[in-house]
Formats: sequence, structure tokens, C-alpha cells
Amino acid sequence: MLQVPVREHPAQASTKAVILVGGPSRGTRFRPLSLDVPKPLFEVAGHPIIHHCLKALAKVDEVREVILVGYYDESVFRDFIKDAAKEFPQFRILYLREYTALGTAGGLYHFRDAILKGKPERLLVLNADVCCSFPLGEMLKLFEEKDAEAVILGTRVSNEAATNFGCIVSDSHTKRVLHYVEKPESHISNLINCGVYLFSTECIFPSIRSAIKRRTTRPRILSYPSSDNLESSFIAATDEEDDLEKNEVLRLEQDILSDLADSNRFFVHETKDFWRQIKSAGSAVPANALYLQKAFQAESSELTAPSATIVPPVYIHPTATVDPTAKLGPNVSIGPRVVVGAGARIKDSIVLEDSEIRHDACVMHSIIGWNGRVGSWARVEGTPIPIGSHSTSIIKQGVKVQSITILGKECTVGDEVRVQNCVCLPYKELKRDVANEVIM
Ligand code: GDD
Repeated sequence: MLQVPVREHPAQASTKAVILVGGPSRGTRFRPLSLDVPKPLFEVAGHPIIHHCLKALAKVDEVREVILVGYYDESVFRDFIKDAAKEFPQFRILYLREYTALGTAGGLYHFRDAILKGKPERLLVLNADVCCSFPLGEMLKLFEEKDAEAVILGTRVSNEAATNFGCIVSDSHTKRVLHYVEKPESHISNLINCGVYLFSTECIFPSIRSAIKRRTTRPRILSYPSSDNLESSFIAATDEEDDLEKNEVLRLEQDILSDLADSNRFFVHETKDFWRQIKSAGSAVPANALYLQKAFQAESSELTAPSATIVPPVYIHPTATVDPTAKLGPNVSIGPRVVVGAGARIKDSIVLEDSEIRHDACVMHSIIGWNGRVGSWARVEGTPIPIGSHSTSIIKQGVKVQSITILGKECTVGDEVRVQNCVCLPYKELKRDVANEVIM
């Protein structure tokens, strides 16, 4: 267990928060970027993805402890937690490591003693891989008003996109969840699960326990990744944990939420604000744009002031060097020690640390990996994603390709070379024009 003690908090915490960060076997769709950094630590709008979750949690007064639950090695979050503890002294931040992927509810249950320490009444659970305005205050308000057992954050998406998510059927008047189905085969609702929940601690753990019991008497038809390779030395398991371990992983969505919908105290708060999933590497580009736009609306001093060559919102790390004749924005993040040459044009893109964009190069709808080089007069470009789209792939010449061009770590694009809708694995040198390819 990795923990940075910050300071004593005299008030008894009534709400705790868990961020489900997953582990190295997840985030495969985030390749090639997840080859070099764990997805929750990938920077969008100048900060790691989970930093945006902490920022939202910091606005909820009664949160005194935030637990990251995942199955990455402990060392992965050490520096991040150290820095975050300084920035967010109002809560303690811990990382609890699952010995194997236990699923979105399995991890919560496994660490129930740590979560319940201090007797919190409510538990906020956030999927790490979503980007939104996290209206946690509104969720807490609804929770209080309705004397709820659970509140889920929902948003409306197109009918075509809905079946890729958990779907919620609710009473629009009372906001009660009547029915919940995870990624249904056919359309049932376009109100979907945003991956942000608020539970009564008195309700959620007994609900998980019941689900484990049901498992033993009613084998599941669905098969989830098995947890065969268990490290038996990890912790002395209870009977219920034995049941959990012998069976498959336990999913909040499939195993718990559908049953909660049978209770009368499960409600949905529908957000009208932005929401996106961060699944594929390309989805970091719309997430970057949405967080930058939010920071711009909030008049954040982190952003670069608009000018003739800065089309807001733009984030430039203080250690980056941008030639005054380069034109940047909108929706651009420039990482530490990046160098941008004269006359370069960058739009809707993320340029990661130590990269160089040489003079008169053009980078649009793209991610330039760490220590990348884009030659002079080169073009690295993707295709704009339609507003409201929840997919980052498009069909080009009959083939499904990524709309965002992604260069992995230390890729080089030669002078005057054009790279279009490509995903390029790390350490490649692109000397000729390429389009719609995955470069291995
Ligand atoms: N600790 C831990 N352990 N975290 C996990 C595990 C696990 O075994 N498995 C997944 N996670 C984390 C992921 O890192 C991610 O943050 C979150 O849980 C959900 O990941 P998935 O299980 O891959 O689900 P999904 O993204 O396909 O769908 C979920 O999120 C959608 C919203 O983004 C569901 O909740 C959907 O209903 C929802 O619409």
C-alpha cells in the first residue's frame, strides 16, 4: 500500500472517494501511448488524466481521503501521489493495489476495510478513463434530496453510440433508475452511464456481498477474465473472498447496478455538460480540447493569453520554447521543453515533452509522442472528429482508420514529409509520405 500522510484531519470524513485506475493489461486501446506511460498518468490539458478527477474531488468539502484502486505496480503512482498530496492538502491520497484484476466491484470489495475506515457514509467512485466536468456537488444534492442508496451520473448520446455504454432507463420526473443494462445488444435508452457513482456505504458493500453469494448459486452466463493466477500470499481471504476468487471478476456494471435498479433508491443525475470516454489513444485529443475549453471558460491563469498567433485555448508548459511567429490553437497542449520553430502551425493537438516541431511544419488533430521530431515543412495531420462523436475512428477508402494521427515516443518525420491518419509505433523514422496506416 502506497500512502503519503499529509496532515491530520480532525473532522470525521463522511464521504470517501475511489478512483478506479485499472492496470497494465487494460488501456490496450491506448497504445502506442500506453507503452510509455500508464493511461491514468497521460497528460491532457497539461495534467495527468487522474489529476482532473482529483481537481473535481477537491471541490467536495467533505472528501478527506481519495483511494486509487488498481493493479499497476505500486511504484507507478508514487511520484504522482507525492506531488498531488502537496497540491491537494485537503485530502489524503492512497494507492491500493489489487493482486490481479478483480473487476470494477471486486477491487472495492477486496479493500472494503480500508474504504470503510473512519466510517464514511458515502462513497464516490470514479472511472479514471472519463473526461467530464464531474458535477459531484449536484450528485450529492440529489443523493440528499432523495435519501438515495445510489446516484449515477448519466449523459445523453446518439442512439448509435448508446449500446457501447451502460444504458439507463429512468423516470424523467422522479429521476429514479428503473432499469440498467450494460452495453445492451439492442437500443434501450440513449441515457448512458458516465462511470461516476455515489453510493451509500451501507448499501454498496452488502449489494456486492449478495452478488458474490448469487454467483456461487447461479453460475454466470457471461464470462469475464478469469482470476486463475492468484498470489495466495497476498492477504488472508475470507469465505466470501474465496467465493470471489474462485469465480470470475466482479463488475459493478453487470453484477451490481442492474440489481440496484430493483430498489426504489437508485437515481440518475443527467449532466448536460461535456463528457467523453478516454479509451483509444486518439480520444486524448477531444479530452484535451474539452478540458482546455473548460479552463478557458474559467479564465485559468495556466493558459496562454490569446494573441495574433495564439488562438485560445492553448496550454504551453513554462519550459517550452515557442517561436513568436508560430501559430497555435485552438485546443493545443505543448509539453515541457518542447521547441516550436518559426512559422509552424499547430491545431487540435498534443505535443509531448522534449519534442521539436521545426520551422513551417504543420501539426493538426495529432499527438506527437515524447521526444518526437517533425521536420521543416512537414505535415502531420488527422481528420477532425465531428462534435458529439464518441468514436475516434473513421472510414477512409473503405477501411476503418484512426481519425487522430499518433506518433509514439521518439518518432521522426522527415522534412516535407506528409503523415495522414496514421498510428506510428515508437522509434520510427518516417521518410516518405504515409496515409491511413499503422506503422509497426
Ligand atoms: N481497479 C480496477 N480493477 N479498475 C478496473 C478494473 C479492475 O479489475 N477493470 C476496469 N477498471 C477501471 C478502468 O481502468 C476504467 O477506469 C473503469 O474501471 C471502467 O473500465 P472498463 O471495465 O473497461 O469499462 P468500460 O469503460 O468499457 O465501460 C464502463 O465505463 C463506461 C463509461 O466510460 C462502464 O461503466 C459503462 O457502463 C460506462 O458507460
